[in-house]
Amino acid sequence: MSLLLTGIAELTTNDAAVSDSLPAQADSGDRLLGIIRDAAVVVSADGVLEWVGRAAEAPAADASRDLGGRAVIPGFVDSHTHLVFAGDRSAEFAARMTGTPYDGGGIRVSVEATRAATDAELLALVRGRVAEMRAQGTTTVEIKSGYGLTLEDEVRALRVAGDVTSHTTFLGAHVVPPEYASDRAGYVDLVTGPMLDAVAPQAGPALAESIDVFCEPHSAHAFDGDESRAVLTAGRDRGLRLRVHGNQLGHGPGVRLACELGAASVDHCTYLDDADVEALVTARGTTVATLLPGVEFSTRSPYPDARRLIDAGVDVALASDCNPGTCYSSSMPFAIALAVREMGMTPAEALHASTAVSARSLGLDRRVAPGQPAELAVIDGPSHLHLSYRAGVPIVRALDL
Ligand code: NIG
Ligand code: FE
Repeated sequence: MSLLLTGIAELTTNDAAVSDSLPAQADSGDRLLGIIRDAAVVVSADGVLEWVGRAAEAPAADASRDLGGRAVIPGFVDSHTHLVFAGDRSAEFAARMTGTPYDGGGIRVSVEATRAATDAELLALVRGRVAEMRAQGTTTVEIKSGYGLTLEDEVRALRVAGDVTSHTTFLGAHVVPPEYASDRAGYVDLVTGPMLDAVAPQAGPALAESIDVFCEPHSAHAFDGDESRAVLTAGRDRGLRLRVHGNQLGHGPGVRLACELGAASVDHCTYLDDADVEALVTARGTTVATLLPGVEFSTRSPYPDARRLIDAGVDVALASDCNPGTCYSSSMPFAIALAVREMGMTPAEALHASTAVSARSLGLDRRVAPGQPAELAVIDGPSHLHLSYRAGVPIVRALDL
């Protein structure tokens, strides 16, 4: 049965063909998002968009549903999360609010709790978090391992993640676990050798789509530029897409390394110098800069300079970074509100960054156009502006068909 959705006051399509059809005087936000007002869409029985356009021109379908003047947007693509963890670190958050800086040391608390959890417990936690995200408009999620840090526990984390998404990322190089504290090189060898063999075998299906590394010389627990290069090149040799945690706690080699190696994304980008921005501009079309403003909120840190990046022509994405340490928020609307209020992004740029650009970093096309999957979200309000205008109010959710 095909379904006609009507009563769409404003539809964000992210479709250049729609943007190109807008009149010359159209608002720049409308052009960026490919907005259609008074729109309708037809969805096939198997959840594919069959028709997208103005309601007045909509074809007939087997059934119809009136959305009552709401805005419809592409579902958010949360391209950076760490959902596979157990335990609680709220006390660490409270300590940060009174001045204790974040240094990555708390990750070992989550590692201990995650190792101790059963498979069923981890799966229930992850499923609960994904449901929480869907209830806030996220329809696609990337999930990293990184709280196992033994071969068995990293494999388990990726299996659990693979139960809810195909966008899984091997983050064995999250921190050096306590048992390798005096043998960092040995741990890098484990990650690039036996762990990689297990998660991305030379032959046969891989458990991970991407590989990531916490490249951060400012944390004693994370990895320096040379170690990060070793991890990333080993992953690349196995055909994994590259992602990098870079320049989160201070200036460092992460951003330039990611750009040099053709990573799909370099995430955080909080501390950037001119050479970093130049590298990102050169890597445009290949490497996306994913900003994670929930982290700056939750670690009381300065926000990255989104305006500088966008004005320079860098591809900027937004994601939640949902994790137990630096940001236990699964909310893309919260990230959008922070990006608009604190980072100088326009509402249209923030929505584009949370859908089209974050999707691109996962190799996905997030247009609302015929032939695409109907992964949509609906806003209780007439326009996407309400996402940040009504910050903190639960007005957006994934559209169940
Ligand atoms: O993206 N920076 C590294 N990893 C996470 C935080 C992990 C944690 O503290 O548990 C992040 O911020
Ligand atoms: Fe992260």
